[in-house]
Formats: sequence, C-alpha cells, structure tokens
Amino acid sequence: MQNLFPEKIDTLFINCNIATMADNGISINKNGALAVTGEIISWVGKEKNLPDNFKIKCKKNIDCKNRWILPGFVDCHTHLVYGGSRSNEFEMRLKGTSYEEISKQGGGIFSTVNASRNASKESLFTSASKRVKTLLKQGITTLEIKSGYGLNLESELKILEVIKQLDKKFPLHIEATFLGAHALPIEFKGNPDEYIDLVTHTMLPEVKIQGIATAVDVFCETIGFSLDQTKKVFQKAKELGFNIKLHAEQLSDSNGAGLASEFNALSCDHLEYLSLSGAKKMAQHNVIAVLLPGAFYYLKETRKPPVDIFRKLKIPMAVSTDLNPGTSPVHSMTLILNMACMLFDMTCEEALLGASINGAKALGLGNTKGSIEKGKDADLVVWDIDTPADLCYLAGFNPVEMVMIKGDKINF
Ligand code: NIG
Ligand code: FE
Repeated sequence: MQNLFPEKIDTLFINCNIATMADNGISINKNGALAVTGEIISWVGKEKNLPDNFKIKCKKNIDCKNRWILPGFVDCHTHLVYGGSRSNEFEMRLKGTSYEEISKQGGGIFSTVNASRNASKESLFTSASKRVKTLLKQGITTLEIKSGYGLNLESELKILEVIKQLDKKFPLHIEATFLGAHALPIEFKGNPDEYIDLVTHTMLPEVKIQGIATAVDVFCETIGFSLDQTKKVFQKAKELGFNIKLHAEQLSDSNGAGLASEFNALSCDHLEYLSLSGAKKMAQHNVIAVLLPGAFYYLKETRKPPVDIFRKLKIPMAVSTDLNPGTSPVHSMTLILNMACMLFDMTCEEALLGASINGAKALGLGNTKGSIEKGKDADLVVWDIDTPADLCYLAGFNPVEMVMIKGDKINF
C-alpha cells in the first residue's frame, strides 16, 4: 500500500519514536509521526516528511514528547475465565508435589472445573473483568480466551458466553477458543473416548451453531488426550470451519505438533518437548510457535522450547501470558517479555515481535492487528521508555502513557 497522505485525519501523533513491528523486525522510525483516520492507521513515517499544512488540517494533534509508540500487545493464549483460586496448590507445589501428581489427586484443572461449574455467569464475568482490565492497562489490545474449565455442554457454553460478554463490554478485540478437550471430567473417568464423542458430536456443533468461538484447541498430553482423540476433535472442527490450535508437547513429546500441522493449525503452543520432525512439519505448514514462559516458570520446568530450531526453520515465535489459575497466574505481558528473554534466551526483538505481530498471526489476525502499518487497525500504545528493549528489561514496571484501540483513546 502506497504511503499517500490521507484526505482526512482524526488523530495525528507527532514528536514520537515508532517501533512498527512490520517486516519481521522492530523496524524503528525515530522522530516519527503517525496519522489515524477513523479506526485505521492512515499514515506512518518521519515527521519531517509531513506536508506543511498537515498539523493544522488534523482535528487532534498529540505531542508524544519523544515517547515511543508500539502496536498494542496481542495476548494470544489465555484461560482467564474461571472460578475459584489455586493458591493452595501453589503452596503444595512449593513443598514438592508435582503438577501431574496434583492433577492425579483430582486437583489441578479439575479443581478449577468444579469451581467454574458452580459459579454463576455473573460471578465469572466479574472476576474475569478484573483480569481483562489489568491486561488492558498494560497495553494489551487483542486477547484470546479459551473455555475448558466447564467440560460439559452447559458449563462450556456458559464460559464462552462470558467471553462474548467481555468482548462486548471492553474495547479490546477478544477471540474465543473452544477447549472442551482440556481434561477428562471425573464423570467420564475410564471412558475418555466417550467424552471425546461428546465433545465432537454434541459440543462442537452447538458451539458452531451459537457462533461463539472461532478456534478449537485440545490439550494433547499424557494427562490430557491422546493423539487419536485429538485427531477426532480436529477432524470435526475442520469440517465445521473452525481454526485449529493445540496445547502440544508441554510435558512430553506426543507428536501433537505434527498432527496439528497436518490440519494447518494456526499455532502450536508450549512446545518444550517438540521434536525436530515436529518442528519441520510446523515450518512446512506455516504454523506459529506460541511460547509460554509463565507456565515454564511456575512449573519449574527445565526443558526449554527449541528456540534455535524455530530460528533456523524460520518458524515465527509468539509469546503469551497463558493466564490461568494453575500453571501461569501471570497478569503482565511485560513480565512475560522479561521471562521470554531470561528463561528462553529470546532477544528483546524476538520477544516484542512475539507479543505483537506473531501473536496476531497465531490468531489468524496478521492482516489487521499486531503491527503499525498503513491500513491496519489503529491499536496503539504510547510508552514512556527510552528504548523498546526497556519493555523486556524493566521487570515489573508499567510505563504505559496512552492506549488507543481502533482509533479511540481508552480511558481507564
Ligand atoms: O496452558 N496445559 C493445559 N492448560 C493450561 C493449564 C491449565 C490449568 O492448570 O488450569 C496451560 O498450562
Ligand atoms: Fe494454556
């Protein structure tokens, strides 16, 4: 798209430094300017290249005082609608009980399933709203939320409806993913295939009819579902036109990534135990690797995802909070950026691309979100930082100055 000057401008950012995240890099424009027309970015470039009458012509000029503008963060993997708390399990794990052990004892995901089944829609909405607000205040403008703590038709739909309500209430763009195959509910103990039949033949078609999720995810793992069971869910999901995502190779290598790639998944997520052949399949099918250092950190994992292989095979890496009550109760993208660098040896540039354009690609939104380019949604954050690397380096700091979503300035 040619960088012609727009006829009409609603907001003009001047005196700013811009990290566009376009063209596979941070792509810095120092002493830049950025124009917004309606919901869309209509011009981006050097301020000195603005025509003389431009600042007068524009309704609203914002002097950024040399601050930085980056695309709003995209948090592409969360489970933030849930009931209850798992702080007791956090303490058990500190004393040495493993995540798998807690899960086998009926805790872990199951304890959140109980609490979420018993929670009213209103209380789920209230607790999730607090989490969404926290993310928004830290510059997240696009968010994915998974179901998966209901594990029966009624409760899965309840969670997806809450996600829909959040999308309506908050200015962020929210994508809903159906994760009915997150864990085997107690009432199906010993009959995983029967539960998979319920997910496949009852839940998936109903979710489709109601139009309340765009993607389908599965937890393919020894404590989740087998490769064959995952395949059954994907076959039906594909037939119904859902996007595909997978919790793959988090605790062991089940070859989930290879399977998901054959279904042209948008992303495979976690991937600590990914094999070279799995990675090659991901590369072949343009699947995004979503890395979740919060879960790695909370589970005190030692095996890192194969970042070098992703680099070599040019597999785009996204990073995300994985916000959930068990393995990643992390409410901060900047903390995740820091963890991606410190724990997974990603560069600041890779981490920032992971939280922006590659996160958008993991949601199938690469054409509208995640980078500052003419024609894309005006989802922007003004940061009071000296350099974009500060967002990875200054852990626990939240230097957000302003958030704009689709051309609207957000008031917190
Ligand atoms: O992404 N791995 C499975 N699902 C979540 C954990 C959910 C939970 O423990 O409640 C994850 O880590
Ligand atoms: Fe997850």
